[in-house]
Amino acid sequence: MKQRRWIIAGAVAVATVAALNTVPAVASRPYDPTAQTLAALGQRHGLQVGTAVNMTALNDTSDPRYRALVSSEFSSVTAENVMKWESLEPTRGAYDWAAADQLVEFARRNKQSVRGHVLVWHSQLPAWLTSGVADGSISKQELRELLRKHITTVVNRYKGKIWQWDVVNEAVSDPWDSPPTLHYKGFWAQNLGPGYIADAFRWARAADPRALLFYNDYNIEAFGSGNPADDKSQFVYEMVKGLRAQGVPIDGVGSQGHLGTQYGNYDTLQVTAALKKFAGLGVATAFTEVDVRSEMTEAVQAGNSAEINPRLQASAANFSVLMKACLAVRSCLSYTVWGFSDRYSWVPDWFNDPPEGMATIYDENYQPKRAYHELKSDLIFAGPPYVLPRVAPKPRR
Ligand code: XIL
Repeated sequence: MKQRRWIIAGAVAVATVAALNTVPAVASRPYDPTAQTLAALGQRHGLQVGTAVNMTALNDTSDPRYRALVSSEFSSVTAENVMKWESLEPTRGAYDWAAADQLVEFARRNKQSVRGHVLVWHSQLPAWLTSGVADGSISKQELRELLRKHITTVVNRYKGKIWQWDVVNEAVSDPWDSPPTLHYKGFWAQNLGPGYIADAFRWARAADPRALLFYNDYNIEAFGSGNPADDKSQFVYEMVKGLRAQGVPIDGVGSQGHLGTQYGNYDTLQVTAALKKFAGLGVATAFTEVDVRSEMTEAVQAGNSAEINPRLQASAANFSVLMKACLAVRSCLSYTVWGFSDRYSWVPDWFNDPPEGMATIYDENYQPKRAYHELKSDLIFAGPPYVLPRVAPKPRR
């Protein structure tokens, strides 16, 4: 709110200067980019800076900072959970739109774009669906029809209101899965075969001619061996290439960007090269779920700065690598963090052996961390000739 007032005061001051040719005190205040939000700084490059939104936190009136920061710092929002199938259709045939509608309306009021997440995923499916398939009461043929109806219903409800849809999420295995040769994994591939991917994009396109349709996955930030049998980025690359060759309406590849400071990770040029390689297929790219977790050793939990400092620095460096790579590639349309505060991050719940945390850009008390300031610096220091405004593809028909 305070920041808002400054902006209005600034606008009035500029108008006054123009009219009276006098210089009120406030107009002499030099432009300070560090006082701008991530959203405003991203705007200079046409880049949307987004966050996943936890609806419980958004509606928690005892914690107004959460809502204030979602509205002010970000130009794009993603539902962290409420657009997943288990949330939308907990009981067969009875859609509950309340929370998803609320987020879409919130974004409209705040002039934010919405990344729709997610239409087809093996996880967070309603129990009636998975148990129906398991006990044979839902046949394969019926399952395919249920998927078609789900995609059509959801995309149609938000037609014209979703900028990018994650149509298919995490369809590809990891080298640690069995068998280790990369393959199409999970519920949908097992039950329908990999043809469901092309079907899903076609059904989504039929329901919304304008949304950008994305394939979204993790561990595709950089290329490895170049062999699709063990290089997940290469597997996804071949998949997207194949879909494009068949005329499937896929417009983008979302790289989730879930990193951890305990791993080797990447430098900016490796990630830039990966984005460029995907862009070479004619698709947009985006970082869709960025967070950088760390192992929460006993020393970290006890507040030992010798263990905390390197984590904060490595986290900032990794957030920054993905941001700089995105800025360097004009088809990289958005950079979304998977929650912005450690107060609500999914990481401690999901990675607990060993415990991990510290994955976001604000601490639990909404103090911006080094990572937040580094993202800002990246947006401030970027410009031509290397960093140019974004170029979005036309939705493919
Ligand atoms: C996570 C949410 O953050 C958690 O709250 C939920 O319990 C599980 O799912 N990849 C995705 C996201 O595409 O949907 C996941 O979100 C994180 C991994």
